[in-house]
This record gives sequence, structure tokens and C-alpha cells, in this order.
Amino acid sequence: MPSTPTAAPPAIPPPDGHDPRCIPHKLTQPLPVGEACVYPRYSPEEHDVWRTLYARMAELLPGRAADEFLTGLTALDLDREKIPSLAAVSRQLHHATGWQIARTPGLLDAHDFFGYLARRIFPCTDYIRGRHELDYTPAPDCFHDIFGHTPMIMHPRFADFYQRIGQAALACRDPALEEQLTRLYWFTVEFGLVRNPGGLRIYGNGIISSAGETLHSLTDRVEQRPFVPEKTALQPYDIWHFQDVLWVVDSFDRLESEFVRWAKSHGLL
Ligand SMILES: [Fe+2]
Repeated sequence: MPSTPTAAPPAIPPPDGHDPRCIPHKLTQPLPVGEACVYPRYSPEEHDVWRTLYARMAELLPGRAADEFLTGLTALDLDREKIPSLAAVSRQLHHATGWQIARTPGLLDAHDFFGYLARRIFPCTDYIRGRHELDYTPAPDCFHDIFGHTPMIMHPRFADFYQRIGQAALACRDPALEEQLTRLYWFTVEFGLVRNPGGLRIYGNGIISSAGETLHSLTDRVEQRPFVPEKTALQPYDIWHFQDVLWVVDSFDRLESEFVRWAKSHGLL
């Protein structure tokens, strides 16, 4: 969901709660897509923040992140030293799953965001958080979007599921059902767990973006329940604390088929 935070939130909300990066943009013109995404002039400090974040997560994720996430990350072969170009990542996604990247100035209005997902285009930021925000940033940056989200979009079934969420959201007119869809998005794309042959693993980017949430999510302090859309959609979440309940899928085939079944049962697909 475009309004989800990038990482495990701090225990205390920001005092004013009005970080300008958290205000969704309502688009008045289409975003640049693929080769039209111009590479910004990053400072050495900005590249260094990317390098630092990448090194930290590369150490933490083996044995914790889903095989599918790590396979996608390996296939993307992102530069560890410099912020990658959106155009280059878009080319790789397009080759793998037919997705592309659009450069977004920040959070998008929900309708705009889902409109892009429905067309297999992932809106992606190209700015990076400051060094004082290594552990938490309230709005997506390119480390969250590129490192955290694009590896799963390299997976064919997850890529289809992600498009289905966009399509279902565009068709949704009922606020109560929208809330359920938001929860399904939250507990899969941002906070999902999967059972791999080696054990329970993380694929949700809200976890992967956060060292603290990554360590927390696989412990017995979290109740891990089998993903059933009808149940997951009724589970409230708290964006300001680590999650107490997470939902586990057996496979991404199953995630997609269960979501499609749920969405069809509500006339959204
Ligand atoms: Fe996200």
C-alpha cells in the first residue's frame, strides 16, 4: 500500500507526524517509465548510505529471507557500491516477468499507485534516506523500493499476484472491503512470511527493510498463522510497533491462487 512505512516503525510516532515525504502525490501527468527514468546526480554520501544499507542487509538476510527473494536479488545483481539506475532495474524486471519501473516523486495516491500495479509497472523512488535514518524512514526511499521490493517482482508468481492486487484495488468501491485489501497487502507484500524447505522465511519488505523487524519476525514472540485471506483480511495492524501476528504462505502459487479466489468471491476480479 503506498501509505505503508518503509521499515519497522519506531516505538514512538514522530512528534508532528507530518513528514512531507508521507503526503501522497495525486498525479497530474504520467510518470516516466523504464528508459525514460533519468539517473540523478547522487552525492558520494548518498552512494555511501546505499553501500552501508546493502552491506548490513546482505549480512542479515541469508537464512532469514525467502529463497525466492534471495534468488531475485542474485539475478538482479544490484550494484552494492552505488545506487542503481531505475532504467537498468526496469530492463531486468521486464526481461524476467514483464514488469517495468516508473520513477515516482514519493508516495502516490492509492488510485494512481494501484493503476500502475495493475499494468505491471512498479512506482519506485530514486532518492535515498539520510544517514540518520538508516534504521527507519517514514516514507519509501530507493533502498526500500529497489532492494526491498524488486527481488520479489522477479518471481513470476509473486509478480502475477502483485498485479492482481492492483487490479482488485481498482475495482474496489466498498470502503470496508478496501480496508480488508489494505490488510492483505500489509500482511503479504510488506509483512509476509513463507515456508521454504529450509524453514520459515521472510518475503515482506516491511520486515526486510528493517534489521530489528527481521530479527523479531522469526521468533516465538510472533504468532505465525497460515495465510487464509478471509482471516488475514480481518487482522488489524499497528504501524508503530513490531507485528505480533504474521501470516505464512506455503508457496507463491498458493498466495496468488488464494488471493484470486478471495478477490473473485468479492467481485473484484
Ligand atoms: Fe513498501
